[in-house]
Amino acid sequence: MFKKFFLTAIFVFSTIFIQAKIIDAEIEKKVNTLLQKMTLEEKIGQLNQYSSTWELTGPTPEDETNQNRLDDIKSGRVGSMLNVVSAKETRAAQKLAVENSRLGIPLIFGLDVIHGFRTIFPVPLGQAASWDMEVIKQGARIAATEAAAAGIHWTFAPMVDISRDPRWGRIMEGAGEDPYLGSQIAKALVQGYQGKSLSSDNTIVACAKHYAAYGGAIAGRDYNSVDLSMYDLYNIYLPPYKACIDAEAGTFMNSFNTLNGIPATGNQFLVNNILRDKWQFSGLLLSDWNSIGELIPHGLAKNLKEAARIALQGSTDMDMESSAYINHLAELVKTGTIQEEQIDNAVKRVLTLKYKLGLFDDPYKYCSTERERSQIYSHENQSFALEMARESIVLLKNNNILPLSKEIGSIAVVGPLAADKDNPLGSWRCQGEENTAVSLLSGIRKAVSSKTKIHYAKGCDLLTDEQEYQFHNQISINKDNYQGISKAVKIAEKADVVIAAVGETALMSGEARSRMNIDLPGVQNKLMEELTKIGKPIIVVLFNGRPLAIPEIDKNAAAVVESWLAGSQSGNAIAEVLFGDHNPGGKLPVTFPRHVGQIPIYYNHLNTGRPVMENSDIFVSGYTDGPSTPLYPFGYGLSYTTFEYSNLKLSNKKLGMDKSLTVSVDLTNTGERKGKETVQLYIRDMVGTYSRPIKELKGFKKVALKPGQTKTVQFEINKDKLSYYNAQYEQIYEPGEFEIMVGGNSVDLLTTKFELLE
Ligand code: BGC
Repeated sequence: MFKKFFLTAIFVFSTIFIQAKIIDAEIEKKVNTLLQKMTLEEKIGQLNQYSSTWELTGPTPEDETNQNRLDDIKSGRVGSMLNVVSAKETRAAQKLAVENSRLGIPLIFGLDVIHGFRTIFPVPLGQAASWDMEVIKQGARIAATEAAAAGIHWTFAPMVDISRDPRWGRIMEGAGEDPYLGSQIAKALVQGYQGKSLSSDNTIVACAKHYAAYGGAIAGRDYNSVDLSMYDLYNIYLPPYKACIDAEAGTFMNSFNTLNGIPATGNQFLVNNILRDKWQFSGLLLSDWNSIGELIPHGLAKNLKEAARIALQGSTDMDMESSAYINHLAELVKTGTIQEEQIDNAVKRVLTLKYKLGLFDDPYKYCSTERERSQIYSHENQSFALEMARESIVLLKNNNILPLSKEIGSIAVVGPLAADKDNPLGSWRCQGEENTAVSLLSGIRKAVSSKTKIHYAKGCDLLTDEQEYQFHNQISINKDNYQGISKAVKIAEKADVVIAAVGETALMSGEARSRMNIDLPGVQNKLMEELTKIGKPIIVVLFNGRPLAIPEIDKNAAAVVESWLAGSQSGNAIAEVLFGDHNPGGKLPVTFPRHVGQIPIYYNHLNTGRPVMENSDIFVSGYTDGPSTPLYPFGYGLSYTTFEYSNLKLSNKKLGMDKSLTVSVDLTNTGERKGKETVQLYIRDMVGTYSRPIKELKGFKKVALKPGQTKTVQFEINKDKLSYYNAQYEQIYEPGEFEIMVGGNSVDLLTTKFELLE
């Protein structure tokens, strides 16, 4: 029986594989035939990407007008457009290319579909807190379906940059600090966007970005230089990009930063040696917005012509918005500085993608006003947004006050984010419409009994003016805010419990939104201080796109709920958690520091020669003015039930190099509610050629348990899980002792050991 199944599976897989090879060969033939017909100018046109000037995401070249961009499309000088959205708009732009240009080559339309298209899901960092790969994949599937109906073929996502610095605003766009979790999420997102076949009308091609190590920006300042050891580059930063290769992401985008002194755009080592040669990536590599032009301020190129040469030689196929290629490549070929063959290689990658997307068969198949009407922002998509928002919420503290009874007498709902319908949509909200999120206040009102009295006061402003919030620490408390705070205090005095909605605006995280302070901005700390004085239990709901350093909140609040920026259904999801309709199970994908001065702080650090231990003296790797431990560690998150870990066992205490062993642990729900727990497996290599991290996540499983129920959770370990990369990017397997740690966060763990044999 098993043999029959096995043989059938082999037959099915080989048939799919052979079919894919035949299709690839057919596409290659078509691409070559088309390439023969193209002039040099037409080829270069395919490598040029413009943004529509009506929805810019960066500085526009001054001499460009919309009109000559439209003329460029008609004359085949544009291969792709970004930020043209809707079935109507994309159809109109496509028509210009297909009906006017000599060869009628269709355009590819790209867009930043980051956490939903019109239905907005939690920001990616929040999604990562769900540790639920099926949910994350399904979110990308829905986003792709909505975007594809509006004519989009290509998303500039996933952003898979690892970041250990919460000052960096773009930490919100990624999966946090861990290469293993980040890689699983990268894979899920690519699979969700791209579906089973790129030629379906509801799939879009993914773009892994920003290659590479953009999240390592020094001091957390966006666009800043990155200086990394090769050890960290290979073991910490590169794995999620490699996961995108393994998941067959169709495209990559390079990044703005320098890496060890050389800009990532046009970086021969990063692109030619690793991406193209070692990883064998044959898809399209796109520049980031004007990142080719930025080779000039980086000091790598004297002018745009030189920048174009460096970028092309560094295998960047398409130029987003710098016009370096369209204005200079032809001349570089004519003077023999670059070979036409280099251009041909880039054009082949662009055309291959267009064939794979099915654009030559029907250039309009993605633009469907009918699908746009029926599939975008549908009831089902909203239900899914609610499900994902629930899964991403993390309970950080609970002095047994949560969940609240729906029959509670009165609640004071305060804080600048309580009635806010806009900020929960987050940054990079794509086509999410202003003020369309469900506010917390409205979620609470819907959840409670008719007898419960809800009093609301905003308390203080959440700074929205860009200038203001960039320098918020210099702002004095104005009269209105004092009055607002005393109003909030007054209603809090009358209530049984206070729910305080505080945090950041949507645009305090995201591109170019780095912060020096990562506490509560504006006068929210003052609001919290005054509320604390009343002595009523305070439940803090946080809205934020990055870890915040909030030790006072942790100390004074009765409960802390991390809601991130949870998208369209934000308020409903939070209310379900507050009133116990949903038992929270999210876990932090990133460390929360106590203080900004601890940054970078991350769980998988090296031990140092002088680790801090209990009762350590002064000469250890710590601080003299505070602890070096985090406020909330990586992997942490509470539940309304309790879980007990027991019986950690290994199938063998010795592991042969080409064998595997099983780790098993019993997980029991010892509380009174059903709940989900993410069981985390960490490994430490005790002695190696390199100093190895004190622990590294190597597996996780999200398990649902009824009260009293026990399940045995197992993980397989083989030499790959125990290996790492040396500074030459060789995967090495070193025999010796390994520690296995299993638990519900990166600190509270059961441990055992085994030996890897030669
Ligand atoms: C960002 C990219 C984004 C691009 C297009 C750039 O500024 O760095 O992540 O995809 O703009 O919007």
